[in-house]
Amino acid sequence: MKRSLTGIRPSGNVHLGNYLGMIRPALARQDDYQCLYFLADMHTVNTLRDASLMRAYSYDLVACWLALGFDHKKHILYRQSDVPMVAELAWYLSCCTGMGFLEKAHAYKDALAQQREVNHGVFAYPVLMAADILMYDPDIVPVGKDQKQHVEMARDIAGSFNALFGDGCLKLPEPRVQQEVMAVPGLDGKKMSKSYGNEIPIFCDEKTLKKLVMSIKTDSTALEAPKKLEGTLVSDFFSLFATPEKFQDLSQRLAAGGLGWGHAKEELFEVINAEFREPRERYQRLRSDEPHLEKVLQDGAQRAFGIGFPVLNRVRKAVGFQASRYHF
Ligand code: ADP
Ligand code: TRP
Repeated sequence: MKRSLTGIRPSGNVHLGNYLGMIRPALARQDDYQCLYFLADMHTVNTLRDASLMRAYSYDLVACWLALGFDHKKHILYRQSDVPMVAELAWYLSCCTGMGFLEKAHAYKDALAQQREVNHGVFAYPVLMAADILMYDPDIVPVGKDQKQHVEMARDIAGSFNALFGDGCLKLPEPRVQQEVMAVPGLDGKKMSKSYGNEIPIFCDEKTLKKLVMSIKTDSTALEAPKKLEGTLVSDFFSLFATPEKFQDLSQRLAAGGLGWGHAKEELFEVINAEFREPRERYQRLRSDEPHLEKVLQDGAQRAFGIGFPVLNRVRKAVGFQASRYHF
């Protein structure tokens, strides 16, 4: 069976951008692919320096995947730091990755431009991300548009390694970006992101969700006036949650006049809330049982190790090392 792999950092509340751009399309692969999905906690050390928050966000994220329908028995859900041999693979990859190549990475360039802390971890981010991917021989990597460059860099890094140490040693995966989603806008119209504080968390309570949806920017056209839905922020969100028929219907009622943006946003709240009502309840239940979440992660790590270990040994052999005696 083909394999799908992706990761998300436990760095805060999961929001609609994460859900629509990556999580929903990744979940949709469960019938046709073996899915390896992981919490990219080693990538989070760069920005989150609070051990109890790191633990809390990690459990939030496992509960989130499970509540949204990830089948952890059929597939594999694990924490990056529980399979630390990935850092060893990252080292071999570092040794065939040029500085000039890494200087082109968006995340690094953004950190420089915004005068955020630029440490070696930020600079080497694409190498660790390449190791996350190449460790498990995946066929596809579902990510949001902003991560596509990193997956392409992983392919390039694999190409360099193969050219130096043996063709075919590392498998080149394909990025998969949900074309119709691309970049989900935030409440202010900019890309939705934790770093901009413009996000709608998927598991906030109903009241907060409504308040946030009602705060989406709209123009001040009078209630009676005809309005064009297409091209607005409300339309961007509505099209991602409602059926095409529902979308057409709202568009026609707005165009007829007499329907205000407030009403339209209430309808938007209803379609978003309908998608999250049941998962939200499951999430609360799952989140209150950390020992169960930990068990899911430990089981996932063991199975991920079973897939990654032969790949690591393939690489060690290509470099001229003995097989690893590392045990899980
Ligand atoms: P954030 O920008 O909030 O820190 P992350 O970098 O943790 O989000 O992103 C996790 C995943 O969600 C990535 O695959 C990313 O491409 C996707 N993603 C994040 N924000 C958006 C968005 N606004 N639209 C589409 N996909 C997104
Ligand atoms: N860089 C990704 C993000 O910020 C998270 C990530 C780390 C990842 N390693 C990965 C995604 C490997 C896909 C594959 O969202």
